[in-house]
Amino acid sequence: MPIYRFSMGSLYVKVLTVLWMPEPAKHLLLVEDEAPLREALVERLSEQGFVVVEADSGERAIEQLAEFAFDIVITDLRLPGLDGTGVLEAALLRYPDIVGIIVTGYGTVKDAVEAIKRGASDFVTKPFQFDELLHALTSALERRRLKAENAYLRSQLQERYRFEGLIGRSPAMRDLFQMLETVSASASTILVTGETGTGKEVVARAIHHNSPRRAQRFVALNCSAIPETLLESELFGHVRGAFTGAVGLRQGRLEQANKGTLFLDEVGTMSPAMQMKLLRVLQEREFERVGDTHTIKVDVRIVAATNSDPQKMVAEGTFREDLFYRLNIIPVHLPPLRDRKEDIPLLVQHFLKKFSSQDPIVGHRAPEFTISQQAMRCLMAYAWPGNVRQLENAIERAVALSGGRTQIETSDLTADILQASRPVVAPDVHLPETGIDFDQYVSRIEHELIRRALEKTGGNKEQASKLLNLKRTTLVEKLKRLESSGGP
Ligand SMILES: Nc1ncnc2c1ncn2[C@@H]1O[C@H](COP(=O)(O)OP(=O)(O)OP(=O)(O)O)[C@@H](O)[C@H]1O
Ligand SMILES: [Mg+2]
Repeated sequence: MPIYRFSMGSLYVKVLTVLWMPEPAKHLLLVEDEAPLREALVERLSEQGFVVVEADSGERAIEQLAEFAFDIVITDLRLPGLDGTGVLEAALLRYPDIVGIIVTGYGTVKDAVEAIKRGASDFVTKPFQFDELLHALTSALERRRLKAENAYLRSQLQERYRFEGLIGRSPAMRDLFQMLETVSASASTILVTGETGTGKEVVARAIHHNSPRRAQRFVALNCSAIPETLLESELFGHVRGAFTGAVGLRQGRLEQANKGTLFLDEVGTMSPAMQMKLLRVLQEREFERVGDTHTIKVDVRIVAATNSDPQKMVAEGTFREDLFYRLNIIPVHLPPLRDRKEDIPLLVQHFLKKFSSQDPIVGHRAPEFTISQQAMRCLMAYAWPGNVRQLENAIERAVALSGGRTQIETSDLTADILQASRPVVAPDVHLPETGIDFDQYVSRIEHELIRRALEKTGGNKEQASKLLNLKRTTLVEKLKRLESSGGP
């Protein structure tokens, strides 16, 4: 091609490197209940360079899809329990760009049309030659590659899984949506807990916007951002001359939120004196402005939030127990993102859409961003200590760094995110001639890792589980098993 005549040596080298970069292996989920056929396919597909994971049922496939961003799913249509259509639907819901191939035992046009209508890339009819399947697979991959540039993720899908700006479809988030729907209608006080960046403020706003108070104000007060003396006048207001600098009468946030919702953020940082004053408001719904004796009555719904463990604070004596019970009428807990990995793809789509449409060049349509499955895998393997906020920042950064491309690649992610998905270097394992007891050996390694994590964190199970990227409950279970087996 004459236009690609390179005169600059360095550019030539660069183009060559790009051309010669090996394509990362494609990850494939194979769902087939007939063991002999499954095993034969695994062997042939692996020979072709695919990294194959097998599932012998639809249910098992769903679990695997929740944990890992596959490039391809090949599924038998007829399966005991959940069938291939269900598997395909779940796969596409999570990863709109996944290549889905249906294997059907019924070579009718109807089956084929139905599968394609539901989003399958192609289908093969049993019995088939392996080459037939391979052909369907490679041409589907090629079609996807071609369409990748302008294919936009089916943003509509996510609409069904959100609650006023809250995205998620993990069991934990579904429970949350259901709960929010019921509690929003009431006027009861709510205490939202969860690590930083899990969405506590979004939840507070969602509660207000779904409550009968939505036409009134949502007033937020961050208790940790304001010095103690000012906090009181921020909350209750003050009269002229109440303290040096109080030049005029000022309404506090409580009054501003009358008939509406007051969001008390970082409520755990309040001083004992302020805690007592807040307790009175919660009990009596009345207060006085600073420097005044006149009592004001308010009708306010209070939603409080904290990222520390309030029960622990009560036990330690830093938070009043009576105030805790008054605030904790309806507890809402937001689990950390690492415990609801399956929400990551949906959140990524949401943020891609959000940041693609920001600041488009005047007169141009904003580019629509997609993400490679490899990059998605990195995002899913990472532990997200800063939760959804950190994920949001990572996507914003990736979009900003993507240059002219419209697909986010692993190179747009930060080193610590990439690090998490790198395979761990295998420890020095010695296999003696006489053999080993596999289970015992593996559990010894498990125990050693847990022991070291606990040692590092001074016995703190919460932190140790973060260090191992395990759920806290999983760590506790493993510990229990370790104790009952007499320890390592
Ligand atoms: N489920 C979600 N869906 C969509 N966006 C979310 C979700 N959860 C959090 N976010 C986004 O993540 C960011 C952090 O959320 P938010 O401020 O509510 O966290 P927080 O729990 O109050 O954190 P902190 O304790 O640090 O104040 C916000 O930009 C918010 O829009
Ligand atoms: Mg917050």
